[in-house]
Amino acid sequence: MAIPIVLDHGSPQSLQGQIFEQLRHLILGGKLKPGTPIPASRVLAEQLGTSRNTVLLVYDRLIAEGYLQARKAIGTYVNLELPETCLAAARRIATSVPVEGEAVKRPIIPFIGQTQAKKPHQHLDFDFCPDRIDLDLFPHKIWRRFINRTFASSSTHFTECCDPGGLLQLREVIADHLGIARGISVSSDQVIITAGSQEGLNLAARLLIKDGTLVATENPCYHGAASLFQSYYASLVPVAVDEAGLDVEQLPKEGVMLLYVTPSHQYPLGFTLPIERRLKLLDWARRCGAYIIEDDYDSDFRYRGSPLTALMGLDDYGCVMYLGTFSKSMGAGLRLGYLVVPKALMQAARSAKALLNNGHAWLDQATMAEFIRSGAYGNHLRRMRHLYCKRRDCLVEALRQHFGTVDLSGLESGLHLAWHLPNNYPVASELQELALRHGVGIYSIGPGTAYDYGECNYSARTLILGFSSLNEYQIRAGVRRIADAFKGLRMN
Ligand SMILES: Cc1ncc(COP(=O)(O)O)c(C=O)c1O
Repeated sequence: MAIPIVLDHGSPQSLQGQIFEQLRHLILGGKLKPGTPIPASRVLAEQLGTSRNTVLLVYDRLIAEGYLQARKAIGTYVNLELPETCLAAARRIATSVPVEGEAVKRPIIPFIGQTQAKKPHQHLDFDFCPDRIDLDLFPHKIWRRFINRTFASSSTHFTECCDPGGLLQLREVIADHLGIARGISVSSDQVIITAGSQEGLNLAARLLIKDGTLVATENPCYHGAASLFQSYYASLVPVAVDEAGLDVEQLPKEGVMLLYVTPSHQYPLGFTLPIERRLKLLDWARRCGAYIIEDDYDSDFRYRGSPLTALMGLDDYGCVMYLGTFSKSMGAGLRLGYLVVPKALMQAARSAKALLNNGHAWLDQATMAEFIRSGAYGNHLRRMRHLYCKRRDCLVEALRQHFGTVDLSGLESGLHLAWHLPNNYPVASELQELALRHGVGIYSIGPGTAYDYGECNYSARTLILGFSSLNEYQIRAGVRRIADAFKGLRMN
């Protein structure tokens, strides 16, 4: 055990005095507890770079004053019972701590962010949580095989520091995947591996936001994004959403530096931004000199028609940054995602990433790269898409069975839908509470689900229901329970 003693060779106090004082403080402060063995004098002298004699003299003095006890042929220990004279010294040290009011002044921490508020409702029987997937569907067996194979071929890679921008093999397969799946043509140098989308957002914010930067977002929008921008002291500008997603006409004509948007499946309302709006959006960004963050968090799950080309795939101006994540397809616990940046931001983004954390664990990245390259990821996605599509259908059918005609959005893709309540229903927050009391999680638009600026058409009368973490039996039983809970309500 190395004892934490630091010697100041420039101090007027002798080395012997410094060692004595620091050991005494460690004992009186309880850091070296009664009965703890003290290193042999030779060992401590070596650790401190002093002569053994200096340490021996200190030990002799501590033994003489009752702090230490020498046990013949065994070693030196902190005394089991410190004498009253030592304890009086300890009390003096304790009372010399500054009392309230004269506490040392420290600078105020400027950080203003908050985490997403929602905690998993473990007590719920059926949780239609929008941001959770079915963890039992993770391809354990195959993943284990890929990990073992990758590890066996690792040699020194396993412990060597990776490129901060991410493992080349993973960046390459992601670039290829984006070309096929999202119509985005990029080089692997433009892809930066991140710890999920959240770190991608951090990276983008680090590049573009300073105090007071105007950042526009959809209203309502993903809480994780709005809170993050606020933590960088951005001034948020809400932009209305209608049944075709972000209302491009409502964007400020100038001043905005960054727009955060979810075109594939507006979070949380689930609308898809049509191609005309996508093109208008790019024109707006070019005119304003703004950047766009395109969060494509659940676009792997498209159930109806072909996916629209991503904004970044349509971008001729180099203004779109694309956020992707494996949190929805594989599991949020993997903490793997990526930010794709325009060529002009490549160097800056790589430097910012190195400052953030110098890159990710080699094994996770190499396994994911091999998983995608081998085609196993494609197979996994197809399987999940099929299953989640059936769960979505099951939820829609159950809602119709119990509530008749229901106004739903977000059905074309993703892992949750929005239920727009008729005017004669109580407000969504009331229904959320009622369902929670009956052991079912359904969510209104508010803290924990989404960031709502307060002037949104959908705030009061929309419920969000995720269908990816419940099986069909649970979905049916959950909706039945909601219907029972709502039975006693007066619908005006
Ligand atoms: C809109 C949106 N973006 C991104 C994410 C994924 O975040 P991460 O990749 O950091 O797990 C989520 C998760 O629920 C989300 O709802």
